[in-house]
Amino acid sequence: MSGRQGMTASPHPVIALLLLASILLPLCAAIKMEEFKKCTDAAFCNRLLGTKDERYIVDPASVSVTGAKLSAKVLNKNNPDVSLTLTLTAYGSFLRMHVNEDASKGRFEVPGVLQKDLPQVESSWKKSKVAAAHTSLKLGKADVVLKYSPLQLSIDIAGKPAMIFNSRQMFNFEYLRQKKEGDPEGWWEETFKSHVDSKPRGPEAISFDLSFPGFSHVYGIPEHATSLSLAPTVDLAENTTSEPYRLYNLDVFEYTADSPFGLYGSIPIMWAHRLGATVGAFWLNAAEMFVDISKSDQGTATNWVAESGVLDLFFLLGPTPHQVSEQYALITGPSALPQYFALGYHQCRWNYRDEADVREVDANFDKFDIPYDVIWLDIEHTDGKRYFTWDQHLFPHPAQLQDDLASHGRRMVTIIDPHIKRDPSYYIYQEAEKAGYFVKDKDGKDFDGWCWPGSSSYLDMLNPAVRQWWAGQFALSKYKGSTPSLYVWNDMNEPSVFNGPEITMPKDNMHFGSVEHRDLHNQNGQLFHQATAMGLEERGRAVYGSDGDRPFVLSRAFFAGSQAIGPIWTGDNTADWDHLRVSLSMIMSIGLAGLPFNGADVGGFFGNVDAELQTRWNQLATFYPFFRGHGHLDTKRREPWLFGDDATRRIRDAIRQRYVLLPYIYTLFRHANTSGVPVMRPLWFDFPEEPAAFAIDDEFMLGPGLLAAPVLHEGAQERAVYLPGAGPWYDAQSGAMVKPDTQGALKLPVTMDDVPSYLRGGHILPLRERARRSTVAAKNDPYTLLVILDGKEQATGDLYLDDGSSFAYKRGLYAHRLFTYKDGVLSSAPLPGSPSRYTTDLYIERIIIVGLKHKAASYVAKHKETGETYTVQEGSVAQKAGIAQEALVVRKPDLPVASDWSLQLSITK
Ligand code: NOJ
Repeated sequence: MSGRQGMTASPHPVIALLLLASILLPLCAAIKMEEFKKCTDAAFCNRLLGTKDERYIVDPASVSVTGAKLSAKVLNKNNPDVSLTLTLTAYGSFLRMHVNEDASKGRFEVPGVLQKDLPQVESSWKKSKVAAAHTSLKLGKADVVLKYSPLQLSIDIAGKPAMIFNSRQMFNFEYLRQKKEGDPEGWWEETFKSHVDSKPRGPEAISFDLSFPGFSHVYGIPEHATSLSLAPTVDLAENTTSEPYRLYNLDVFEYTADSPFGLYGSIPIMWAHRLGATVGAFWLNAAEMFVDISKSDQGTATNWVAESGVLDLFFLLGPTPHQVSEQYALITGPSALPQYFALGYHQCRWNYRDEADVREVDANFDKFDIPYDVIWLDIEHTDGKRYFTWDQHLFPHPAQLQDDLASHGRRMVTIIDPHIKRDPSYYIYQEAEKAGYFVKDKDGKDFDGWCWPGSSSYLDMLNPAVRQWWAGQFALSKYKGSTPSLYVWNDMNEPSVFNGPEITMPKDNMHFGSVEHRDLHNQNGQLFHQATAMGLEERGRAVYGSDGDRPFVLSRAFFAGSQAIGPIWTGDNTADWDHLRVSLSMIMSIGLAGLPFNGADVGGFFGNVDAELQTRWNQLATFYPFFRGHGHLDTKRREPWLFGDDATRRIRDAIRQRYVLLPYIYTLFRHANTSGVPVMRPLWFDFPEEPAAFAIDDEFMLGPGLLAAPVLHEGAQERAVYLPGAGPWYDAQSGAMVKPDTQGALKLPVTMDDVPSYLRGGHILPLRERARRSTVAAKNDPYTLLVILDGKEQATGDLYLDDGSSFAYKRGLYAHRLFTYKDGVLSSAPLPGSPSRYTTDLYIERIIIVGLKHKAASYVAKHKETGETYTVQEGSVAQKAGIAQEALVVRKPDLPVASDWSLQLSITK
């Protein structure tokens, strides 16, 4: 029975608008829209999405349990030849369901993503005696039941249904088969535009439904430019459908700011959150995928289909948001700890023209007193888009240029794309071609596609030998003109193929081990990203010894597990307010998918940005996990000082504010590194008990202690803000307590200087307030502790410290300090479990306390151990940092940042 197909496909309102716009816009935009498939253009989506099938049952006689693993045969009632193997493995806090046909069929299983030695739990699967109809298991707060006929898996959390697999019998597994006369159209060959997909293995799609009873909100499955709480794509009441969410890594030209179309990266994890429970479902599958969502009074129902691969589905049992993040990080790995500099401001443009241009931009940052850390070179710096080379005329002295930048603490990033110019005199091409390292077309020849350099071939990164060879290209001796202060940008790695189907690689191209491109498409970019990062890591060890240098590689394409490699950004957005707004949902959604280090091009890639938008964008991006200004070749220059004095001042303030927050942000990245918790996240992540926050995506939390509600509308005179929880909240600019109404709402007038952001009572934020040119220049600067008291005059917070660049932290050379304020005593101790092996002379030069209730005649701050006393000043010392003007300031306590101490604050009347 075909569910979705029986419904009317009404164009999504935005799609309808786009269709209209396509008539009005220049031809190129209209053509590009049509370059991409919809569900109805993909045979497997047509066949299986929305299709009900009741054929699958578990053979009761086959059920066996060994340790944590249950195995069973799944049969197809209508076809005795089909037999699938199902395993259900219990881990401490998640469950894995794996279904495949006989391994000899060779279906693709995604390599390299799952962490080794996942912690299995020897659990007691209880076989039901009643008609042998089901098997059940208890796992923490979860009750799991596997029903046999039809196959169904249900998971209750704390006694309430939370996830049900196959309750709508949409599970379908297209087994591999021989081609027969009369097979339906689309099984063995499919055409889109002029592109023919030969589909040599025929139909092999997998679909299933997964319901989240009682949940009104689901999130995740990036990358889409959509709202954070995912809108339904099936309207059950109206019996209509709109486009399902697509997960297919694509270079989408001028993507729109509200569309379920798949963009550059895909992470097939969905979150569901309701009062009292948060859960997640992760499908490890790298093939093209579509997901439908419908909502009703019963909750949210979803329907997933992938073109090939296996069913490898993880149920994350939560039940809190933090735990879902931790569970996902256990499965796919925590995110890499970035170098400290990488969290500073990045200045990019397509293109900084030549060395003089780079030097001038660099000098202007100093002239206008704006900190920045990295300047980026786009494709025009190369000799004819041959990566690892330099245009001799424009960049004759690249090493000298990098050294000069490095001499005042700045780095350079160059772009290295995956398409290799088919030029026999280009050494990279020569070596790769000779070694047979390129992806093959369906006829076994090196695939020849069109990209920036013209005719190009693409390295087959599925092959470990190719990754190793590629990594070797980053050695200083190989990459001529590179120095240790040069890092890398991997673009176009979906891969983008200008003359390919949907601007990407044909699915019937062949990879190492006879794997079709179809199977691994969504992982393709990740493998390239990984090989590049491996190269920088090897270079780091060669230069600095065994502690090395943490790689920095920005990638456009991504997949589950990319967090362990490095940052990504949201690609070619546009200089308009819609894209400014949607960047929040995109960044948060990618963060929930375990990849915290991401950001959007500040200013918008396409189109010219005006002073207002550029100012507002920088004010927002000061909180982005990855903060980079960028712009298209055809846009007007947009460095921070080009928009007039007022805008320059405001952008300077925004970028400086970023540098003030860096110790806090770096600490948040350490949390992401240890437990997968996103850095920039939705309000409900920290306030899971507040239904009013579940759909908010124009505000966010930066860690647990700071809420930002940036101005996102042109000409805005006021901003409505929702402040969750009991508070208290303090205005981050003035330090004044803010008082929302009983519903948590606040309306405030805003000027162009305002960046509404709030400090959460009960938290301590470590800061660095001195204005410097870069993170390197601030390396030896002392810290400030911003103590924001809750209603009981208490607060806690932490600070992570290490060398900021090497892997020495992996052998315990770090300090993680825990600060506590209680009963007028601020104390510093190691975070439980952290070593104290990292030593530093750095100290805390200032303590700002916000939220003391009693106004006293004077205060005395005294070191509890040494008895030393410090000046306490009320008010405006911190004003220049833009934080907490109404506060109590302990001046120059000069407390060692990595040691234990406590400071008593007394009121003298
Ligand atoms: C596409 C990328 O998304 C963009 O950021 C870059 O500037 C161009 N390619 C040129 O390399």
